Amino acid sequence: MPSTKGNKQASAPSAFEKRVKRRVSARVHDFFAVCPPGLKTTCQKELAALDTDIQEIQPLPGGVAFRTKLPTACFANLSLGSPSKVLMRIASFKADNFSTLEKKIKQIDWELFLPGNTDLNIQVTAHKSRLYHSGAIEERCRAIIEPRLFTPGNKSEQSLLIRADHDQFELSLDMSGELLFKRGIKQKVIKAPLRENLAFAILKTVGFTKQTVLMDPMCGSGTFSIEAAMIQANIPPGFYRSFAFEHWPGFRKENFNYLKTQAQKNFSMEEDSRIFASDIDGSALSLLEDAIDQHEFLKTIQARKTDFFDIQPNQLTPKKGVVVLNPPYGKRLGGDMDITHFFSEIGKKLTADFKGWRVGIIYPEKALGKAMGLPLQPMPFFHGGLDLFAGIGKVRG
Ligand SMILES: C[S@@+](CC[C@H](N)C(=O)[O-])C[C@H]1O[C@@H](n2cnc3c(N)ncnc32)[C@H](O)[C@@H]1O
Repeated sequence: MPSTKGNKQASAPSAFEKRVKRRVSARVHDFFAVCPPGLKTTCQKELAALDTDIQEIQPLPGGVAFRTKLPTACFANLSLGSPSKVLMRIASFKADNFSTLEKKIKQIDWELFLPGNTDLNIQVTAHKSRLYHSGAIEERCRAIIEPRLFTPGNKSEQSLLIRADHDQFELSLDMSGELLFKRGIKQKVIKAPLRENLAFAILKTVGFTKQTVLMDPMCGSGTFSIEAAMIQANIPPGFYRSFAFEHWPGFRKENFNYLKTQAQKNFSMEEDSRIFASDIDGSALSLLEDAIDQHEFLKTIQARKTDFFDIQPNQLTPKKGVVVLNPPYGKRLGGDMDITHFFSEIGKKLTADFKGWRVGIIYPEKALGKAMGLPLQPMPFFHGGLDLFAGIGKVRG
């Protein structure tokens, strides 16, 4: 993270601001990047590369834990492409009765963590604990927390996650707000589009970099292409969106804006087109075209209505690069099309015309990976309620 030391504070801090700094922003805390299954390795690598102040990076069920200070965790929200959200752990204690729970909740400096005028969304899960009634736990906690949040301010929403497991309570604040796959770029999407964090992880795993040519021949509303354009332009995934932590007392707007301005200085808009997006469906493609019209950095994407089976990549670019595919399956395949036949035709097309290209392709059954006849490593993940695979490999030749 670039240093914010040279960035001047507007005025002397109040006593409250000093308390916030001492107890919240200047301390090292535990954080947790929540990841969909299959994306933890990418997230771990991203965290390790992001900032040396990020320590104790550890994959755990459901995501990756790490320790750092609040400003670095804000920077992580801005910069990470693979997680769904980042949580800040604010307390951990044992309680097997309501009186202990209430005593522990009262000990937390809520006003230092949360904004005054907040709509608190308390989500409780209890597992093998003496206190198991989630509604009652929420009610007791809310009755203590809300009166402490007296400071006026703009209305904001904040989720507090309370998890009890074998009487051990863990309390976390959702730093991100809306899920992080929402990058704030697309205005509209097709039904059930690919999530941006998944597209990001597949691009990273298949070895897509700033210099790589990308072919996205079943692009739909263009999730792969937009993520690729952000990577090529050096734009942090969260640059165009806002976060829940921006309402927190411990958030330093001037420092965060300074980090964004520094990031902006590294944006590199490409002149030549290295991203080729196409789809057989003009209405899906028009959503990508709308996004291209609105963002300068997306002008590097060449979008065309074309059938994948008609594409000759060497007519578009002399370079070999990465081809990513999120073909339709299930109901969306339509008609009487046999899915094994469809994927075997995709395999034949790639083998014939994409020799030497690296491939990232999504499919819903392991057998379909084999049906394509390509040397693909299946990366399992979960999306839209389904267990899926991303086949990662290279077409021989
Ligand atoms: C699952 S959707 C892709 C969704 C996309 N990843 C997104 O996030 O919006 C599959 C897409 O493949 C397209 N498609 C199906 N058959 C095609 C073909 N033969 N050539 C090009 N596109 C095709 C469909 O029109 C659809 O937009």
